[in-house]
Amino acid sequence: MNELTHVDEAAVSGQPKIAPAVEPKIVARKVQVFYGDNHAIKDVDVDIPANSVMSFIGPSGCGKSTFLRCLNRMNDTIDVCRVEGKIELDHEDIYDPKVDPVQLRAKVGMVFQKPNPFPKSIFENVAYGPRIHGLARNKTDMEEIVVTALQKAGLFAEVKDRLDAPGTGLSGGQQQRLCIARAIAVSPEVILMDEPCSALDPIATAKVEELIDELRENYTIVIVTHSMQQAARVSQRTAFFHLGLLVEEGPTDNIFTNPHDKRTQDYITGRFG
Ligand SMILES: Nc1ncnc2c1ncn2[C@@H]1O[C@H](COP(=O)(O)OP(=O)(O)OP(=O)(O)O)[C@@H](O)[C@H]1O
Ligand SMILES: [Mg+2]
Repeated sequence: MNELTHVDEAAVSGQPKIAPAVEPKIVARKVQVFYGDNHAIKDVDVDIPANSVMSFIGPSGCGKSTFLRCLNRMNDTIDVCRVEGKIELDHEDIYDPKVDPVQLRAKVGMVFQKPNPFPKSIFENVAYGPRIHGLARNKTDMEEIVVTALQKAGLFAEVKDRLDAPGTGLSGGQQQRLCIARAIAVSPEVILMDEPCSALDPIATAKVEELIDELRENYTIVIVTHSMQQAARVSQRTAFFHLGLLVEEGPTDNIFTNPHDKRTQDYITGRFG
């Protein structure tokens, strides 16, 4: 079998097949990441389905952020970091030398832990990406892109009267939705989120979670979270990482109610991490 062939796990485990195998959006095989001598990600294989949310969970330092950053080559920006193995997006090898990482990151956008709006207006925060990628033909086009992105991020109603005000003047939860609008504005296919709610209060968190659920219809989403409740609320599949290994991956319900691996069980029952 070709090493990149999608493995039908239900068939392999002998369980009844619940849903037909969906073509994965991202396929990772034998991914290794090194920071100098530190082998941070070991032999990770995973299929990430399209139009769904996958959570990455696991104790601090297990490699969740490192692996997430492999998916849009953000690790390229870290000098000591070396990535091996294969990652395909829609069957295209994203580490192929002919792939432009800047274009790739427009397709595979990222939202970080701490909301990081640019020191510019709300409008300009969202317009920045479409401008550098030449997505708007004129001013009207750009306005439409910005308004649509703010609407999709569930922020437009709250900011429509102050688009010229600085993005940094919004509340934390609004800033994070602004960052999501900024990611959406360049029409990505995949959105990577690294603990997007960890700096937010429960109300802002609930809004971002609702948003993630809505965005799933049009985007493939991967979210790193320390909150198992959040993983259970927002994701259809969950992957558990431990010491650089992807220990177990499957439907979120199964991972939380019936994990196969003792390390997963120990983590979800709070025995470590
Ligand atoms: N920029 C970096 N330079 C060197 N080593 C790094 C870098 N980023 C991460 N590492 C190392 O890689 C390993 C995995 O770290 P990573 O940040 O991916 O973990 P994590 O699961 O995201 O943890 P957390 O839950 O605390 O965010 C750790 O040993 C860490 O020290
Ligand atoms: Mg992290």
